[in-house]
Parts: sequence; C-alpha cells; structure tokens
Amino acid sequence: MRILVTGGAGYIGSHATLRLLRDGHEVLVIDNLSRGHAGALGAVRRSVANAEARLTFAKIDLLDEAALVPAVSAFDPDAVLHFAAMAYVGESVASPLEYWRVNVAGGVSLLRACAASRGGAGVPRFVFSSTTATYGQPAPHEVPIVETMAQAPINPYGASKLAMERVLRDHAAACSAAGREFSCAFLRYFNVAGCDRAGVLGEHHAPETHLIPTLIQAALGIREHFRGENVVTLYGSDYPTPDGTAIRDYIHVEDLVDAHVRVLAAMSPGRVLAYNLGRGRGSSVKEVVASVERVLGRSVPVKMGPRRAGDPAELTADASLIARELGWSPRVADLDDIVSSACSWFAAHRRGYDV
Ligand SMILES: NC(=O)c1ccc[n+]([C@@H]2O[C@H](COP(=O)([O-])OP(=O)(O)OC[C@H]3O[C@@H](n4cnc5c(N)ncnc54)[C@H](O)[C@@H]3O)[C@@H](O)[C@H]2O)c1
Repeated sequence: MRILVTGGAGYIGSHATLRLLRDGHEVLVIDNLSRGHAGALGAVRRSVANAEARLTFAKIDLLDEAALVPAVSAFDPDAVLHFAAMAYVGESVASPLEYWRVNVAGGVSLLRACAASRGGAGVPRFVFSSTTATYGQPAPHEVPIVETMAQAPINPYGASKLAMERVLRDHAAACSAAGREFSCAFLRYFNVAGCDRAGVLGEHHAPETHLIPTLIQAALGIREHFRGENVVTLYGSDYPTPDGTAIRDYIHVEDLVDAHVRVLAAMSPGRVLAYNLGRGRGSSVKEVVASVERVLGRSVPVKMGPRRAGDPAELTADASLIARELGWSPRVADLDDIVSSACSWFAAHRRGYDV
C-alpha cells in the first residue's frame, strides 16, 4: 500500500514508518519538524533495504493546505496514519488556541487534502491517534476504561482530540450518504513507551514529560539535554493505591504500531472504529522507578511532590475489544522489557537524535 504518515519524524510516527517500510509499503512522511527529527528518518533510511525508493519526506505544516493538497494528490495514498499533533497536556492549558489550531484546524486541513485526492474520490482509510485524555477523569468503578465510557476531557489537549474524532465521524457519515468510500479509526493510546528493539529508533522529546524516559535520562545524567531537571519530581504519594502513587498503563511503541497495521487491514468502507490501546495492566509510579533502577542497575534521583490537578489515581485500559475483533494483543508484556528497550537507546544516544 501507499501510506501517508503525518508526524512521521516524531516518536510514534517514526516507529510506524519503520514498521511499514519493513512490511514492504511505500510511505510519504509529512511533518513540519517542529517537534520531530530529521535524524529519525535518516535512521529509518539506513536500516531498511531499498528505503530510498519507498520513503519520501515532505516538510509541510498541516495548516498549509495549499502545500498539502498537491503533495497528498501526487502521492495518491491508500491510507493515512495521522500522528502529527501537539501533545503536552500542561502546554495545552497554557496555550489552548495553539492546540485547537494544530490538532483540529490542522486535522481538518489534512482531511480536506485527503478528500480532494484521487480525483475527488478521497483517501479511503484514515487512522487517527487519539488518547486516553479524551475520557477525562473516570470514576474508580469505570477503570479499566472501556471504549463506550463517556468522553469528557478535562484539558484542551483531550478536548482537541475528541473534537477531531467528531470531525471524522461527521465526514464518515457524509461520505457514506454520498456513496463515497471512507473508513476511519480512532486509536486511543494510553501511555506509550519503549523504543524499537532493534535499536534503530528512540524517543526524543524536548522537553520530555513522559515518566519512563524522564527517569532513564535522570539516571544516566543526561536530563539537561532534554530540557529537564536531573532530580525527577514524582507527583503524589497519597493516592488510594497500594503504594500511594498513581497507576498508569504502559504500552510498548512497537505493539502500538502493530495495532495500527491490524486496524488498517480491518478497515472497510463505512466503518468507524474506536479502540483503546494499552496493555491492560497498571504500574504505579514507584513500580516504574523500581523497574528503571533494576534494568540500569543504578538509582534514579527522585523527590516527591504534591499531586497535580486533574491526575486521577488510576488510568488503565480495557483493551479487550481490539483483542476480540482483530486478534491484537501486546507482545511486550513485561514492564522491565519496555523499560529495557528505552534504556538501550538512551545509553547509545545520550543526546537523542542530536549529534
Ligand atoms: N506519546 C504518547 O504517550 C501518546 C499518548 C497518547 C496519544 N499520543 C498521540 O500520538 C501522536 C504522536 O505522539 P508522539 O509522542 O509521537 O509526538 P511527537 O511530538 O514525538 O510527534 C509529533 C510529530 O508531529 C509533528 N507536527 C506537530 N505539529 C505539526 C504541524 N502543524 N504540521 C506538521 N507536523 C507537525 C512534529 O514535528 C512531530 O514530529 C500525537 O497525535 C499524540 O497526541 C501520544
């Protein structure tokens, strides 16, 4: 297939690009490199046979519809994986307009470019990176979260992602009414972690806010390069959980990408799919710290801080729907294996993709 990957120079998008090329597909990456890395695409190119012929990169901003339309039409994709977005909860609270602009207006602009391609027939499959943040704050009895739980986001990031789900539903309904082939999927990720286990790709966010890379960077003494402090603050030790720290569901990035591949194969005209993607197992903040210390064989400098507003005690996925319908289940089952794949990459790339 010819697959358009937006945000393909970012963490998850680059892992998806690598997998698609390994599977023999042709890929067009569209990314404005605001938060992605040309080095990630370089690593992909060096590791996959014949990548030069099958991977094209176009530096385009999602909001630049005039540039998007000809680029998408010329590539003529069979499917789109839409990863490009702004994705920091805290930043979304401080700069909500940027989040609505990129995540919703940018998504609409992409969808318009996709609808205009193939001589107006449109790209038939659209897979959207959604998030657990669309669910907001579930009550304790609603965890693990199922896809049918009411979506009530509590921050602009989650709200912008939910709005884009709505845009896609409306577009799908219009295509269906007009007899146009279109199917979309909302994949609601929990906490994505780990790195390509062959060591080709990693995770380079700056600032880094995700727990696992933050802890690894602190333990390795390389936090400064990722715009963070070398002592990691752990937020909240008085949650109603066994060790008092918050519980989250970590899924290995390669398992997450594998779910996208299965979803692409399952999409058929008129279908709107929504799946949670998590391991279905929770790990507390203290358990993650212990895992990093075990894998690296050294201690992580941490300090306890107060809870953050809007951080629930526990967020885990019920991912049984995609298991039942598509036969997907995470292969990296053990937290230490997720952590270990990330430790290997950071140990070998102490400045991430920067040289
Ligand atoms: N990382 C997680 O744990 C997680 C969890 C839930 C959902 N998600 C979603 O997954 C997707 C990918 O996340 P990630 O962690 O890889 O993020 P990332 O920041 O590493 O990648 C996003 C990419 O999109 C690009 N981009 C941003 N704005 C753009 C624009 N206007 N035009 C073109 N390109 C633009 C960036 O340059 C970057 O390469 C996002 O949609 C995010 O909301 C991630």
